[in-house]
Amino acid sequence: MHEGENSIENHQWKDEHAEKFVKSMEKQIKTRYEPFAKKITKIYEKYKVKEKPNIIDLACGPAFLLMEIQKKIPNASLLGIDSSEKMLSHAKLKIEQYGVQNIEFKQGMAESIPIEDDSISVVTCLNSFHDFQDPKKALSEVYRILKNEGILILKDKNPNYPKWKMKIHFYFLRFKMSKERSKRYYKSSHHWINPQELDKWMKELNFKVSFTSRSVDYIVVGQK
Ligand SMILES: C[S@@+](CC[C@H](N)C(=O)[O-])C[C@H]1O[C@@H](n2cnc3c(N)ncnc32)[C@H](O)[C@@H]1O
Repeated sequence: MHEGENSIENHQWKDEHAEKFVKSMEKQIKTRYEPFAKKITKIYEKYKVKEKPNIIDLACGPAFLLMEIQKKIPNASLLGIDSSEKMLSHAKLKIEQYGVQNIEFKQGMAESIPIEDDSISVVTCLNSFHDFQDPKKALSEVYRILKNEGILILKDKNPNYPKWKMKIHFYFLRFKMSKERSKRYYKSSHHWINPQELDKWMKELNFKVSFTSRSVDYIVVGQK
């Protein structure tokens, strides 16, 4: 890693790239974000998160997940953090367009989350963990900001998923996103994070860990 590589300035999404991403994800609110928000709510209930939770969506992108979480856990205070100023301006536009209120945003890096220690009930992270420059550092940051018994709910792609099944998965994905984006996504699979490795990192940090996987995705819950 080069000096300065891990700074906010080096994590800006190019304007056109961010815009394409937002457009394509907006079509998937019902199929991608709503089911994950439902899953988050179930986990949240299972772990009996205390009254008036505060939830951070780390690397929130266009805030579609936050909007869905708000529908299901209306008493939560919600904050989206993302390194990209461009993406955050899309997020703010979207919540305005959808008439959503009470979601805050902060620009920041997952590797140095601009939040104080022991202050957050739930951190969610969707399909972004493999993008982080230093995912291990990001995990230690999540641990630092979580309250005692607070939880991390992380969903990402599983590099151990059989290649032939992955090909089928990505073939069908081209009908949800563009063919070009689905190909690019498939090619990115070499830097997806191995769940065994993730499990090891989390246990080293003292998280209590549980994994579930479905198709090419895994969901890991870590409790502080
Ligand atoms: C694939 S998008 C996913 C966005 C969102 N979670 C979703 O599912 O719609 C990845 C996001 O991670 C953000 N990102 C990448 N590296 C980051 C980092 N080190 N810290 C914070 N955000 C980061 C990008 O700006 C982008 O918005």
